[in-house]
Amino acid sequence: MATSQASKTAAPAGASTAGSGGSGTLEIKDSRSGKAFSVPVLDPGTEGDTAIRAMDLRQIKLEADEFGLMTYDPAFMNTASCKSAITFIDGDKGILRYRGYPIEQLAEQATFLEVAWLLRHGELPAQKAYDKWVHDITYHTYVHENIKEFISGFRYDAHPMSMLTATVAALSSFYPEAKNIHDPEMRNISIVRLLAKVPTLAAFSYRHAKGLPFIYPDNDLSFVENFLSMVARMSEPKYEANPIFCKALEVLFILHADHEQNCSTSAVRAVGSSHVDPFSAVAAGIAALYGPLHGGANEAVLRMIQEIDHPKNVQSFIDEVKSGKGSRLMGFGHRVYKSYDPRAKIVKKLAYEVFEQVGMDKDLEIALKLEEAALKDDYFVSRKLYPNVDFYTGLIYRSMAFPKDFFTVLFAVARTAGWLAQWEEMLNDKEQKIARPRQIYIGPPERAYKGTLTNKFPRTRK
Ligand code: CMC
Repeated sequence: MATSQASKTAAPAGASTAGSGGSGTLEIKDSRSGKAFSVPVLDPGTEGDTAIRAMDLRQIKLEADEFGLMTYDPAFMNTASCKSAITFIDGDKGILRYRGYPIEQLAEQATFLEVAWLLRHGELPAQKAYDKWVHDITYHTYVHENIKEFISGFRYDAHPMSMLTATVAALSSFYPEAKNIHDPEMRNISIVRLLAKVPTLAAFSYRHAKGLPFIYPDNDLSFVENFLSMVARMSEPKYEANPIFCKALEVLFILHADHEQNCSTSAVRAVGSSHVDPFSAVAAGIAALYGPLHGGANEAVLRMIQEIDHPKNVQSFIDEVKSGKGSRLMGFGHRVYKSYDPRAKIVKKLAYEVFEQVGMDKDLEIALKLEEAALKDDYFVSRKLYPNVDFYTGLIYRSMAFPKDFFTVLFAVARTAGWLAQWEEMLNDKEQKIARPRQIYIGPPERAYKGTLTNKFPRTRK
């Protein structure tokens, strides 16, 4: 195969041409048939990403009635499933930008709700629009009283991510009109409701697990203060959140707000592509985030550190990871980042700021030693495995007195902003259709049914 920047060969018959033409063609010679094919290379994205349309390969076939060539890409290692203007990542350089703004600047200067607006609308909000956005989200934080009973039905030790997945899905039944996803006003109110109510449901799941009464939202408080109030308030008449905790949570929410086409966002887009309501699509995202290879990693990091128990055990733990017998080094490695995750740098600095206030975390030394040992070990260096966002977040969350199994819930509260921006972008993208990958069938060829059962409908009760 060769790419040509100079020639602009017309797309072959039956092939799609939209968005192509600016970057030359890919010339393909099929050694099976000896035939040559010309496939347009799409115009590059803002940062130079290029691709060919997988559908343009379907013309490559040996027989006219053949299905045609597909691409095989388990885990979507090299497949762009959409064009997106929301988040940019350069994994080699460790760059993350929302709508062009560097994550470092947003974490330092923006608020989470400002970032949520930015992700959705593409520009920073003007004051009037921002005031309305904050007002609307503040005034939609209440959930139907029946939801409280629904949550009360969970066992005391239910994982809060299970409770959150189920209650967000249940919200869909309270807002049946949300299925009018092509009505921009309906989309807007659903987005506001989700951003407003996910923190309430998250806090309620915490209170349920602790056996504490639910705390209703307080409309006088900011988004983050209100969330902390719903989680931690006891009998005090007015909740006053620790300003360092508020600042830390605001930054962590900004860092977690979006991360382009990760597992949970892809889940939201794929489920949303069936045109289901956004509550159901976001519930799918929460389920995807729960897994230990994704958002569940922050919880797994802390469990790992507790298992290591003492800095003296760090090297033997690293050796075990390398041998492949133990678990992975949780909080290390990333599908996209092949250098230090820029969010991890911000989180590490933030951790010191929080520890200054609440005292040093006893396990920070283990984390620092782990990082140091891994960063100079050829196993991790050669595989470009660096700390990711989850490596230090768990330590911060613990110092704020959040239990381990609540860490991923915090991630979900923040990521709701990104999921919704991506969901709406997907719906407005004329090129998108219901997500439906192909497969390469490797099962048996056609064969005749020859059953061996003598009793087809056995009864268990005699
Ligand atoms: N510890 C030890 N070895 C690792 C790790 C790790 N954390 N991550 C990857 N590897 C090895 C892996 O065994 C493989 O080695 P080999 O080539 O010898 O088989 C190589 O590195 C490539 O790994 P991979 O599984 O092909 O990489 P991937 O891109 O599919 O996986 C990942 C990305 C994040 C799932 C993986 O790095 C991992 O499991 N990390 C630990 C879990 C974690 O921290 N997840 C949070 C991700 S950041 C937050 C988020 O976006 O959700």
